[in-house]
Amino acid sequence: MKIYVAQNSGFCFGVKRALRKTFEAVKQKNRKIFTYGPLIHNDQVINKLKESGVNSVETIDDAKDSTLIIRSHGIPLDIYDKAKLNNIEIIDATCPFVRRVQEIAKEYYNNGYKIVIVGNPKHPEVIGINGWCDNTAYIIEEYNQINKIDTTQKMCVVAQTTITLEKWNSIVNELSKKVKELREFNTICLATKDRQEACAEIAKKVDLMIVIGGYHSSNTQKLFEISKNYCNNSIHIETADELPIELLDKCEKVGITAGASTPDWIINDVVKKIENKGGD
Ligand code: F3S
Repeated sequence: MKIYVAQNSGFCFGVKRALRKTFEAVKQKNRKIFTYGPLIHNDQVINKLKESGVNSVETIDDAKDSTLIIRSHGIPLDIYDKAKLNNIEIIDATCPFVRRVQEIAKEYYNNGYKIVIVGNPKHPEVIGINGWCDNTAYIIEEYNQINKIDTTQKMCVVAQTTITLEKWNSIVNELSKKVKELREFNTICLATKDRQEACAEIAKKVDLMIVIGGYHSSNTQKLFEISKNYCNNSIHIETADELPIELLDKCEKVGITAGASTPDWIINDVVKKIENKGGD
């Protein structure tokens, strides 16, 4: 049996960086450490963090007099001030690619542009970006929502880093027909695009495609969708324990990919389980 592990699977640069900063903080700090929301969408990693004494909080008030890690999604600008008032030391693990979107939103908002964010209004990254333009942005998920907004003003459009290029193009094409002065910043992160392309390439050529990642992780769900488009025999699991080993019986080629919040050790566990079944 041949096993293909997709390139660009598992932790992205921003998630690796956030975890490194968190474990460094665990080693160095004497204060209690919290993360602002779950650090990543992976229960196994969250459990490891809890074992190291790192828990997540939902509001700034719950982290008074502590150290607070900002996850890669970032936070609204006013949270930094609230942290200061509550004697909270911030360790900022906002992904630099997300920070760029926040800075664009802030700069153009200050220059009189209406900010448009293409993305999911409930996603913490989008809520965070909106907080860099006084929570005044239009947040658009589908191009037909453009009919409901005032397009007579000058506008600056940015993307949630994990949306697809198709979504971005459909919305920006529509906006550019209606808005006279439109500044566009395609802020989609290449890590997402590369991961999705690598998943499709492997799914095309295997008998079974295994997508590993948290069930709540939106980028893992997206990979699973892409995988199913190219390989009917696709499954989504969180850990090696969940791999139905009998599925491997008739397979000659097995593909593996993993979401941005899936650690290497879980990917390796799955590979080992397949190899023990009678690998290459
Ligand atoms: Fe950053 Fe891209 Fe990951 S924006 S957190 S490197 S998906």
